[in-house]
Amino acid sequence: MAPKASSGEEFDKIMSYCKHALISEATSQPNLLVLIIDILLGFDRRERVSLSDKVDENVRRREVRYDRERRVRIKWSEDTESLEEVFDRRTIMTVLKMLNTGILKELHGALKSGKESKIYHGVDPKGNEVAVKIFLTTSNIFRHGRLKYIRGDPRFKDLPHDTQSLVDQWASKEFKNLELADHAGISVPKPIHVEKNVLILGFIGKNGIPAPVLREVRLQAAADWYKKIIELIKQLYDKAKLVHGDLSEYNIMIPNGYPVIIDFGQAVSTEHPEARAFLERDIENINHYFESLNVRTQSPVRVIGAR
Ligand SMILES: Nc1ncnc2c1ncn2[C@@H]1O[C@H](COP(=O)(O)OP(=O)(O)O)[C@@H](O)[C@H]1O
Ligand SMILES: [Mg+2]
Repeated sequence: MAPKASSGEEFDKIMSYCKHALISEATSQPNLLVLIIDILLGFDRRERVSLSDKVDENVRRREVRYDRERRVRIKWSEDTESLEEVFDRRTIMTVLKMLNTGILKELHGALKSGKESKIYHGVDPKGNEVAVKIFLTTSNIFRHGRLKYIRGDPRFKDLPHDTQSLVDQWASKEFKNLELADHAGISVPKPIHVEKNVLILGFIGKNGIPAPVLREVRLQAAADWYKKIIELIKQLYDKAKLVHGDLSEYNIMIPNGYPVIIDFGQAVSTEHPEARAFLERDIENINHYFESLNVRTQSPVRVIGAR
């Protein structure tokens, strides 16, 4: 019977196993990469990796078995395909590095899967929960939709030519935007680390369960919530000098009696030529949602005033 790999010691063993496998074997053996993904994500929960003292022997034995099981496993989990899609080799290296350098201690399953990014639940070395947002470098639609938010932002002068660099810049842009908002005291997830296309954020929720987004909660006193959210939009503009740019009932989480704005990839500086248009659109989106709850709203012009 394989031992359960839940303790810290066991986890360390798994990590050294992964590192070893990745460096010495995986380059020429793509199957092994998929296996490592499984291990990293605790995917193979039914029978976690058995680790003998002889790592080499173990790698070989698992590999043979894995080859045999691969077809079954792909059928077994609908997730496999999306995992492989997210975890191209470069992304795995980035996540491994984070695990090995102690930025991340554990990485668990996927929380949300979008077309352009996936969010995983993780734990930092102090035991705090974190959200790991991984941007897909394979997304074709990414480049097209995103250019207008990067172009025109004075902070992003050199526009990268390849999609991979653009995605990296996008992740770093979300991180910087979150830093600005966080430093200005605005309620956003704490930006912890960014590297390449992987972003680590403070977890909004508890015990691996993310807090609901605005759309998912039945609000008591909706008019008060409307005021709170409009106030946040104004603070974001005045204190952080940012416009969110994609604000809606889906990008506001409600952990515990207060709103937290998320998803800052497309947020722009107030200097951006289209900042005002984006700001008006954000307010309109929020108005639209609260009007559906019969709340009296204010026009964007009234909210924005002389800004
Ligand atoms: N910091 C976080 N903590 C917990 N859950 C999060 C966090 N950030 C995002 N999520 C979850 O992931 C979902 C997608 O995140 P978001 O940043 O909006 O990405 P996308 O660009 O895919 O819309 C959110 O609706 C929320 O449920
Ligand atoms: Mg979103």
